[in-house]
Amino acid sequence: MALLNDLNWRYATKKMNGNVVSEEKLNYILEAARLAPSSSGLQQYKLIVVSDKALLEKIQVIAYNQSQITDCSHLLIWAAWDSYSEHRVSERFNEMMDVRGLPHNTMDAYKNTIMDLYEKAGQDWQAHHAAKQSYISFGMAIAAAAEQKVDATPMEGFLADKLDELLQLSGSGYRSTVILTLGYRDETGDWLAGMKKFRLPKEQFVTEVTLADAAEITESVTIDLNDFKLK
Ligand SMILES: Cc1cc2nc3c(=O)[nH]c(=O)nc-3n(C[C@H](O)[C@H](O)[C@H](O)COP(=O)(O)O)c2cc1C
Repeated sequence: MALLNDLNWRYATKKMNGNVVSEEKLNYILEAARLAPSSSGLQQYKLIVVSDKALLEKIQVIAYNQSQITDCSHLLIWAAWDSYSEHRVSERFNEMMDVRGLPHNTMDAYKNTIMDLYEKAGQDWQAHHAAKQSYISFGMAIAAAAEQKVDATPMEGFLADKLDELLQLSGSGYRSTVILTLGYRDETGDWLAGMKKFRLPKEQFVTEVTLADAAEITESVTIDLNDFKLK
């Protein structure tokens, strides 16, 4: 219930008052973002934090001059892998195996399977896949901010290529995907503060289906489950 109250409290703040979010609350939100699940546990994105006002001013221009960029306390920027490579995936799985005290080759069969699929899917698909993972972390951060009574604005309204250039991400193997301002609402100056939340009613949003509603699938996909088992 507490989470639902927090999610009802939060809204995409349009105007912030410049008050600073404490280090403790910031770290709580960053930790929630870090704990997000990701496909294969690869955590194929990182999080960049900006509170430098001069840099925020430069980012604002790239983000259609949205006022929250400079009125916020901190700006969080998710940057995801632009592609998967054998080297990159191996390195991450090795780190994972080190933490779990398992040999580095433990994930080899699984890694070969996903790399085969990912290579066939192409680089655009790979970048998109990694970006999708970053949005899970983004969602967690939004919920954590609400729990901490920190206002936040989820934002896609920015020129990703320009931001990558500004932050020197271009050519680093990462691309910015989505950003989140953290701060405190300007109760009187924000036209959206106090407005009713709009969401589809549950009956329209949720559909329960049974086998009777499902279509016949003629082509079947075969997956060798042995490839997915830990050796
Ligand atoms: C991925 C994403 C991108 C968004 N981009 C922007 C943005 O650039 N600027 C903005 O003011 N709001 C942005 N929003 C806020 C949405 O408009 C807002 O979340 C939506 O209308 C639901 O309202 P609520 O968040 O106030 O409940 C974005 C939200 C999401 C999830």
